Amino acid sequence: MAERLNGRVAVISGAAAGLGKAAAIRLAKEGAAVEILDLKDASAVAEEIQAAGGQAHSILCDCTDEEQIARAAKEIEARHGRVDILVNNAGILTGRKPWHTLTKEEVNRYVQVNYIGYFLVTKAMYPLIKKSSAPRVIMVASRTYFLANPGQMSYVASKGAVMGMTRVLAKEMGDEGITVNAVMPGMVATPGTMEHSQEEAFNRVMNNQAIKRRVTPEHFAGLIAFLASDDAELITGQMIICDGGGYLH
Ligand SMILES: NC(=O)c1ccc[n+]([C@@H]2O[C@H](COP(=O)([O-])OP(=O)(O)OC[C@H]3O[C@@H](n4cnc5c(N)ncnc54)[C@H](O)[C@@H]3O)[C@@H](O)[C@H]2O)c1
Repeated sequence: MAERLNGRVAVISGAAAGLGKAAAIRLAKEGAAVEILDLKDASAVAEEIQAAGGQAHSILCDCTDEEQIARAAKEIEARHGRVDILVNNAGILTGRKPWHTLTKEEVNRYVQVNYIGYFLVTKAMYPLIKKSSAPRVIMVASRTYFLANPGQMSYVASKGAVMGMTRVLAKEMGDEGITVNAVMPGMVATPGTMEHSQEEAFNRVMNNQAIKRRVTPEHFAGLIAFLASDDAELITGQMIICDGGGYLH
């Protein structure tokens, strides 16, 4: 059976681990050639995909650094000539800290990585995305924007900015047929969240859900694959929460 993303080229940032890694594996399984951008060496993920018969490359890239992103875009252009799917996912998570104890540098770091990084990667890939006949931009935002978790101001605000960007880009790029959507995790166990939260916190979140099952990176990977597919051609400017019904808006 033909896979629904056969022949597509997907760029995924922050796919050395966590949600990005699961998305890279899933998009490759559905037929896409995957390009991973990460600060950390993601060659193990690329090799895992190749061993399963898929196509993948990993590129070391700090997604806040314009020069490194431009180099990555050049490499991807040389390899594929275009980008069909861009998943902006590289981000930093947070613990809790009262807002008045935050420094300018701390707030700025979240803005730089979680928001400006998405902007820079999207801008650099735009000329390649325009060459696609099924162009998709998918942002990984966060449900915390709606919950407004106390102690997470810098993180929540940076992810709120991603939602604003998603909505504006959806309108600005609509005439080019480019869809722009955001997916919003609640609390998914990944290396990033496990740095700040214990098992008990994940269970507490799960027990507040309509469906009391742990949400996994693979659930997000499935949602991202759907948004990348032809079936989602006219879904744009949307924020889609996948949290087992923990937050209903
Ligand atoms: N896991 C959750 O519960 C959750 C909830 C809400 C939102 N999110 C968002 O999902 C995304 C992925 O989170 P995760 O939980 O998989 O995190 P993670 O820490 O497990 O993985 C993040 C990956 O991004 C990479 N990265 C970080 N900064 C980078 C940079 N400047 N340039 C390139 N790569 C960089 C890291 O090296 C890592 O491989 C993030 O944007 C995060 O804010 C996650």
